[in-house]
Amino acid sequence: MLVRLGAIVLLALTAPTAPALAQPSGEAIYAEDCASCHRTPGRVMRRFLEKPAAEREAALDRFLAEHHAPDQARRRSLVAWLLASARR
Ligand code: HEC
Repeated sequence: MLVRLGAIVLLALTAPTAPALAQPSGEAIYAEDCASCHRTPGRVMRRFLEKPAAEREAALDRFLAEHHAPDQARRRSLVAWLLASARR
């Protein structure tokens, strides 16, 4: 009885996080694919932050497609995180 209750609680707890596991966060992707060469994104983002806001996302996406982020879905998460964290 207790074990079954435990299983139900576990299911309820893990279900909402399943999509997040399928698609890692931009921050996790940065740590995995970028941080070995750029410890933090601050300096490398400078050139992109100088661009008008409307051009930033496309320019960064184009650059990263040729620079260590070939997968479109991962790149999309990464670009969103980079732009959001650089504004802080
Ligand atoms: C193997 C090392 C390496 C990896 C991995 C790497 N980069 Fe770079 N990156 C460089 C080098 C070298 C440059 C050119 C010199 C510089 O600006 O630091 C560069 C340049 C850049 C620039 C342009 C800076 C500018 O002012 O033109 C950006 C943005 C950037 N990297 C982001 C990333 C992101 C995001 C990732 C992860 C997907 C990544 N890099 C992975 C080595 C790397």
